[in-house]
This record gives sequence, C-alpha cells and structure tokens, in this order.
Amino acid sequence: MSTRRIVLIGASGQLGTALQDVFTGREVHAPAHREVDFEDDTALERLLEQTQPDLLINCTAFHNVDLCEREPLRAFAANALAVDRAAGICAARDTAFLTVSTDYVFEGTLRRAYREDDAVGPLTAYGASKAAGEFLTRRHGPRHYIIRTSGVFGTTGTSNKGYTLIEKVLRQAERGEPTRMVDDMIFSPSYAPHVARAVRDLVDARAYGTHHVTNVGAVSWYAFVQRAFAKTGYQNAALEPISHAELGNPTRRPMFSPLENTTFAAIGVVPLPGWEEALDEFLTARRLRVTAAAANGF
Ligand SMILES: NC(=O)c1ccc[n+]([C@@H]2O[C@H](COP(=O)([O-])OP(=O)(O)OC[C@H]3O[C@@H](n4cnc5c(N)ncnc54)[C@H](OP(=O)(O)O)[C@@H]3O)[C@@H](O)[C@H]2O)c1
Repeated sequence: MSTRRIVLIGASGQLGTALQDVFTGREVHAPAHREVDFEDDTALERLLEQTQPDLLINCTAFHNVDLCEREPLRAFAANALAVDRAAGICAARDTAFLTVSTDYVFEGTLRRAYREDDAVGPLTAYGASKAAGEFLTRRHGPRHYIIRTSGVFGTTGTSNKGYTLIEKVLRQAERGEPTRMVDDMIFSPSYAPHVARAVRDLVDARAYGTHHVTNVGAVSWYAFVQRAFAKTGYQNAALEPISHAELGNPTRRPMFSPLENTTFAAIGVVPLPGWEEALDEFLTARRLRVTAAAANGF
C-alpha cells in the first residue's frame, strides 16, 4: 500500500515547504500552526480522525539553541514530549510517523562523520530534547522514520529567525556590510529541496528507521559562505573567519558533526548531491527569483 494521504505539521517552515513540493499527486493536509498546535494532542488526534492519513510528518521544533538552554522545559515539551504523544497516537491508529532530528544529538568529538548507529551524546538542551524525541518515538514500535539532518538552507526562513543564514549574509554583502563566520565548526549543509526528495524516496520505500539525510561532504560555516560569495560575484566582500570561542556564545555546540548516510544504498535511494552542487543550485534558484521579482517591479 503506498502512502497516499499525508498530514504535514510545520508545513510553512524551511523543510515543510520543500516537503509540500515533493509530495505532489498525494493528498497532503498541511494545517497552519494557528490551526493545529503539534503540542495539543487532542487537536492532533482530531485532525488524524478527520483526515485518516497513512503518514503523519512532524516538521515542527523549538530549535533556537540558545533559548533552549534557558528554557529546557519548553525544549523538552516541544521536541520530546509532544513527539512522544504524536508517535503514540500514530501507533494506536496504525499510522506511520515521521519526525525530523538533528546532528546536535551528537557530541562532535568523533573526528569522523557520524553514522546512524553511532552513540548520541548531546551537549545542549536542544540536542538532548531532540535525542529524547528520537528515543520516545522508537518506543512506540517500528513504523517510524527518524530523519537526522543539519544546517538546513532553503528558500523559506525559519520560524524563529525569519530568514535563512545564507540569505542574510548575501544581503549583507549586497549592502557592502562585513560578515564574520565561524571557521571551526564543521557540518554537512542540507539543501531543503534535496532533503525533501530523499525523505519522499524513503517514505515510498517504506524504509522505517533512522536515516542521516544531508548533502554529501562537510565544510565550515566560513568556507560555505566564502563559496556563496565567490559564486555570486561578492568575492571581494568583507568576510572574516572567526572561532566559535570568539563569538562569546556560552552555549557549547558540537564542533565536528557531519552526518554520513549508511542506509540509502541497500534501499536504492539516490544519495544527495555534494554540498557544493546544492549551494550552486540554491544560488541559481535565488538568482531567478531575484530577476523575476525585479521584472515584476518588486
Ligand atoms: N534548520 C536547521 O538547520 C535544522 C538542522 C537540523 C535539524 N533541523 C530540524 O528540522 C526540522 C524542521 O526545521 P526547519 O528549519 O524547517 O524549521 P522552521 O523553518 O523553523 O519551521 C518550523 C515549522 O513548524 C511550525 N511550528 C513550530 N511549532 C509548532 C507547533 N507547536 N505546532 C504546529 N506548528 C509548529 C512553524 O510554524 P510557525 O512559523 O507558524 O510557528 C513552522 O512551520 C526541525 O525538527 C528541526 O529541529 C533543522
């Protein structure tokens, strides 16, 4: 039985928007946050009863890492307890459940890319709450997908920041403003449309379990932005590498958290392109958007 009917919560976010684009030809119910709060299990149950989906996708999170440190109860409520309730509701209805997790479940000290079966060791309240969300999902049985991704960039801004980092720094360069980027945090960037495609393929293959879904390769934030500037003609923009310590941010973060996928080959899912190709694709799409907006007088 293929997945024909989907409920998608968090549909207006970076990943949610991209997922709406790839699940064409299916019945996708994507209520806004104000219509259904993922933390309200009664509302969630009512929605599932009304729509009878084959799959519930959770793209919500409380993912402001610094705020999670200050408000761990809120982090665990959103990223763990609400996920636990949703997974339980799905299991009781025999509905598959998909939730999105993060490289921040890892400590970042392994010095190689993390694989799906590596031990978690979160440094932050955010990472701990997401790891708890994973464990709590698994306890409800096998019909779940846990998608770990990292450094997501797409065309839609995140709900708590309102912009994507890459969009923010490109605009700074356009205005001639200097940019400082951390050069000692290494991660795997993830272009939302590529992640969404792989998620669709995993769902179509009914490949339940935990999957790392990022663009292939690893880079520092500084080198990532440096390439974006070079590709957009801002190679002379003021871009300064700094260390995470120089930021003066008290929240410890994983310093080396690239993710490696070890599950796609056996399932026949096509690996995501390298991060360089993904960034180029993003920049091409952005250029077309900007040109179209200018032509329309925006
Ligand atoms: N962004 C990254 O770099 C990154 C990295 C690793 C993992 N992840 C994970 O990827 C997932 C998606 O992230 P994203 O970047 O796409 O997030 P996002 O852009 O901030 O989108 C979050 C979405 O969830 C909605 N939402 C938040 N709380 C909700 C609630 N209680 N009930 C209903 N809807 C709610 C938001 O709606 P409103 O805007 O209306 O509130 C928005 O549509 C998250 O699980 C995150 O932890 C993200």
